[in-house]
Amino acid sequence: MVHLSPVRLGPGTGPGPVSRSQLVRRRHLHIWKSRLLLAVRIGLQNCKNIILEISFPCRSATKSLWGSSQSRGLSHCRFSSLEVLHFICKMLTVSLIWGIVIAVGCCLWLILGRRRRQMGEPPLENGLIPYLGCALQFGANPLEFLRANQRKHGHVFTCKLMGNYVHFITNPLSYHKVLCHGKYLDWKKFHFTTSAKAFGHSSIDPSDGNTTENISKTFIKTLQGDALNSLTEAMMENLQLVIRAPVVPKSQMPAWVTEGMYSFCYRVMFEAGYLTLFGRDLTGQDTQKALILNNLDNFKQFDKIFPALVAGLPIHVFKTAHHAREKLAEGLRHQTLGKRDHISELVSFMNDTLSTLDDMEKAKTHLAVLWASQANTIPATFWSLFQMIRSPEAMKAATEEVNKTLENAGQKVSFEGGPICLNQMQLNDMPVLDSIIKESLRLSSASLNIRTAKEDFTLHLQDGSYHIRKDDIIALYPQLMHLDPEIYPDPLAFKYDRYLDENGKTKTTFYSNGLKLKYYYMPFGSGATICPGRLFAVQEIKQFLILMLSYFELELVESHVKCPPLDQSRAGLGILPPLNDIEFKYKFKHL
Ligand code: HEM
Repeated sequence: MVHLSPVRLGPGTGPGPVSRSQLVRRRHLHIWKSRLLLAVRIGLQNCKNIILEISFPCRSATKSLWGSSQSRGLSHCRFSSLEVLHFICKMLTVSLIWGIVIAVGCCLWLILGRRRRQMGEPPLENGLIPYLGCALQFGANPLEFLRANQRKHGHVFTCKLMGNYVHFITNPLSYHKVLCHGKYLDWKKFHFTTSAKAFGHSSIDPSDGNTTENISKTFIKTLQGDALNSLTEAMMENLQLVIRAPVVPKSQMPAWVTEGMYSFCYRVMFEAGYLTLFGRDLTGQDTQKALILNNLDNFKQFDKIFPALVAGLPIHVFKTAHHAREKLAEGLRHQTLGKRDHISELVSFMNDTLSTLDDMEKAKTHLAVLWASQANTIPATFWSLFQMIRSPEAMKAATEEVNKTLENAGQKVSFEGGPICLNQMQLNDMPVLDSIIKESLRLSSASLNIRTAKEDFTLHLQDGSYHIRKDDIIALYPQLMHLDPEIYPDPLAFKYDRYLDENGKTKTTFYSNGLKLKYYYMPFGSGATICPGRLFAVQEIKQFLILMLSYFELELVESHVKCPPLDQSRAGLGILPPLNDIEFKYKFKHL
């Protein structure tokens, strides 16, 4: 508590006669002066203590300064108050200079650095933080951030994100119009640089001279058409290799097994997918299993920090993940792959195509393919299985479809016999499973489709025309459309038959504002950057569901379990995993 000494008032306090109001004014002035002085004194004393504490935290240093005994107190300090005052003044001056520099910097940024919206450009959100712009709000919850801006600005608006100006196009009726401006838009730049940064290989952009091959064509050639037949065939075999019980007498069939559903999907899809792309190890089953489990651990470590790598952080910041990435790549080197059998066309082709890259760099491009093939497929498989098991109608319809397909294909499910085989045509004729998978992906996908403007141009959209500057980014965020109640009534509900028409065939008519939509389902992106592995991905998930329904009895541990929330930290990358796992039980059917 601070006590101020009373101020004496009276005729002798000043020269000449003074009026009463002057006296009162002087008294107030005096009181304020003394308060100010006292405050400065207390402040200085506190500063002195704090500085001495910061500067001489260790006991020995304190002792040498203050003398050997603490009890002697501050009076034994070798620094005089004047020296401390001088030191503080210096610090205050330095802080002041820094303050001025920062203030001037901010003013300059406000005047020169902040983009101003020009005639014909979309409404602009610069954000408050230099460089980052709106990145923090966007990163916290992209869907809510975009919805808020949509309410404020309409269907087209620009946000500054990490130094880039991103034009968000949010009206699904405009999506196909964006894709019509292909000649002004570059999609490779962002993809190639992100891949090189995250996986650690040199640029695979043909314009950088490391390859003459059109890598996108390579993906299409090796993941679609005839190549897709061999991929799906291999996947069906590998899935059964992983999940089918060893041939044991029926009486010894294991009872219920309880496991986290996400862990189960991760383990099964990773192993079967890895074997399908990179072939089987010729040295034997046990070595192969150990190798894959090791790769699985490393993949999890690496994948965990993937959003940070895409955001631009260098991998060296993350020691464990860096080590995991190098280990994964090591296992994909030419020499190691040479010992494996049944390598996919995609991997062999990449090996031959990127001939100017050294062995380790090539291995890192294989790692990029491994990531692309697993990172979205695993959570997509989880959501499809979870939503199907959770909905009795979906389970019933799916089981009926699977039984009918197997019967028509003349396939018998048994542990003793060979694995189930279904060809492309048979797999393609399963609209119920298609609808279940689509609906699961609609609810869980959050991809960001990005293109960069190659030059200044005018973008003609459903809602008007907008001037776009060179190097700006055009972005689509289809989750906005996937959860739009006008297109998908009751958008957060899982409806297994949402993509079925009245004849039980695949439904393709969805409307916005009374107009039929060309793009209404986009978990795999669109146009030039559409996922080349999308057909294989759907077949893999379908095969997994067929096998789960054929070989197992399935149950949720908690029958009315709540749907787990989506892990928003991966928003923009594709299918979001669940924030928590869900326990389920499975038991081999006594076939
Ligand atoms: C549910 C599973 C999958 C989803 C949701 C998915 C989604 C995507 C998306 C959104 C893109 C980027 C598109 C863009 O930027 O506009 C992409 C790219 C890619 N995906 Fe998939 N994907 C899946 C599975 C697969 C599989 C199984 C493979 C193959 C083995 C694969 C291979 C690729 C490749 C190679 C690219 C890069 C294409 C390029 O840059 O030219 N994907 N995927």
